[in-house]
Amino acid sequence: MKIPPALDEALPLLACPVCAARQLPDATLRREDTSLRCERRHSFDIARGGYVNLANGPEPANADSAAMVAARERFLGSGVYLPLRQALVEMLSGARRVLEVGAGSGWYLSGVLAAHSHTLGLASDVSVAAARRAAQHGLASIVADTWSGLPVRAGALDALLCVFAPRNAAEFARMLAPGGRVVVAWPTPRHLAGLRAQLDLLDVAQGKQEQLGAQMAAAGLVAAGHRLVAFEADCDGAQVRDLVAMGPNAFHSHQPPGEASQRIEVSVSIDEFVAGT
Ligand SMILES: C[S@@+](CC[C@H](N)C(=O)[O-])C[C@H]1O[C@@H](n2cnc3c(N)ncnc32)[C@H](O)[C@@H]1O
Ligand SMILES: [Zn+2]
Repeated sequence: MKIPPALDEALPLLACPVCAARQLPDATLRREDTSLRCERRHSFDIARGGYVNLANGPEPANADSAAMVAARERFLGSGVYLPLRQALVEMLSGARRVLEVGAGSGWYLSGVLAAHSHTLGLASDVSVAAARRAAQHGLASIVADTWSGLPVRAGALDALLCVFAPRNAAEFARMLAPGGRVVVAWPTPRHLAGLRAQLDLLDVAQGKQEQLGAQMAAAGLVAAGHRLVAFEADCDGAQVRDLVAMGPNAFHSHQPPGEASQRIEVSVSIDEFVAGT
């Protein structure tokens, strides 16, 4: 089996999830052939797909399914969200060690690593299908649940990227080195508003900006910047179907999208928070 070079490079960022959950010192993971092992001989196989499952439990119901991951890959690959990726690439310039949480197939992280050749990246997602795709794209990729504590060493990261994914502020703060930053992208109420009204899709919860700031502040992460990425784009019928199928609406009943093209409104807030020095 071929071990992805990116996984070996990212090993210094990782911690054994069993030792970390018990708060045992020196949870360093080393690779022995096709497994990662810690000093206490906890062992995690590298899957044939090149990712490692470091989750402490089974996949939760809200993990993205293989069909959702495939729809997301097709939609992102079509380039509609490139302005969003470009903004994130700019905001992460200079960061040497970056973790993307809830990374899906790692499309944003891949863009960051392509633009910044000295950056070390790690993709994490609770969905096995997503982790497999991220590994296929050459990323160091782990399965882990953001809510139950991530198998990453304390203070190991310069930056953390979270795009439309769950945020665990206390855990983010723990993983960041002093001065490290969290970059969070989340949809504003205008994001896909027309499409959501037309197809009876899930609403974007209101009051998120304040909620996000409060969550981060409670973990000692200080607001350091804000950027709005807003634009309109024409999508054909296939893109619209993928857009609906790749998100949380895949879990909810809604009107089926038709064949027609649509002009969509993209409105994504990117907020940056910095860990104290
Ligand atoms: C809306 S998708 C965004 C994926 C990717 N960031 C993107 O924008 O292409 C949300 C992602 O979060 C993942 N996710 C959901 N709950 C999670 C959790 N508790 N821990 C880690 N990832 C989670 C899902 O599996 C999914 O890949
Ligand atoms: Zn261990």
